[in-house]
Amino acid sequence: MANLGKAVRRAVYPGSFDPPTMGHVDVIARAARLFDELIVAVAVNAEKKPLFSLQERVEMMQECCRSMPNVRVMPLEGLLARFAQEVGACAIVRGLRAVSDFEYEFQMASMNHQLAPAVDTCFLMTHQQYAFLSSSIVKEVARLGGDVSQLVPPNVHRRLQQKFAVPTAGENR
Ligand code: COA
Repeated sequence: MANLGKAVRRAVYPGSFDPPTMGHVDVIARAARLFDELIVAVAVNAEKKPLFSLQERVEMMQECCRSMPNVRVMPLEGLLARFAQEVGACAIVRGLRAVSDFEYEFQMASMNHQLAPAVDTCFLMTHQQYAFLSSSIVKEVARLGGDVSQLVPPNVHRRLQQKFAVPTAGENR
C-alpha cells in the first residue's frame, strides 16, 4: 500500500459478497485500474441472512483479489460513509447491472453523499455477460445442484461445493 500522506486516489467497493461472483471480480479489476488503491469492504448487512460468515466472505474475497496488488480487503461493520472517510477514500464504487438497480443505488449514493460530502459514488456498468448475476441466484442454483463454475471464481466454487453438493464443470444434473 502506498504512503497515506501522498495524494493517493483511494476508493471503496462495498458489498455483502455472499459469495463473491465473477461480476464482482470484474468490477474490482476495472476499478483497480481507475484508482491507485481499492479497498473491497465486505459488509455485515443486517437485512440479509448470509450463507457464509463475515470471516469466510473476507477470506474468499482475499483469495479472489490476490493477483491485484493495489486491492485490499477489509470487513465493514458500521456505516459505509464513515468507513470511507476513515480510510481516506475519495470515492465509493458500485456496479450497475440493470435499470432496476438504479433507484436503490441513487438513494444510497445520495445518502452517502449527505453523510460524507467529500466522497463521491462512481458507477461502473457491469459487464453484459454478468448483468443477470446475483449472489442469491448463484446460491439458489448451487443449492439445487446446478453448475455455477462459470459464474464464480474457482476458490468460491470450491467453498460452495463444501456447503452444498455442487457438481464439477460440465456435470450438470
Ligand atoms: N455483479 C454481480 N452481482 C452483483 C453485482 C455485480 N457487479 N453488483 C451487485 N450484485 C449483486 C450482489 O451479489 C447482491 O446479490 P444478492 O442480493 O443476491 O446478495 C445484489 O446484487 C445486491 O448487491 P448490493 O446492492 O451490492 O447489496 P449488498 O447487500 O451486497 O451491499 C451495502 C449493500 C453493503 C453496500 C450496503 O448495505 C451498505 O452500504 N451497508 C453498510 C451500512 C450503511 O452504510 N448503510 C447505509 C447505506 S446508505
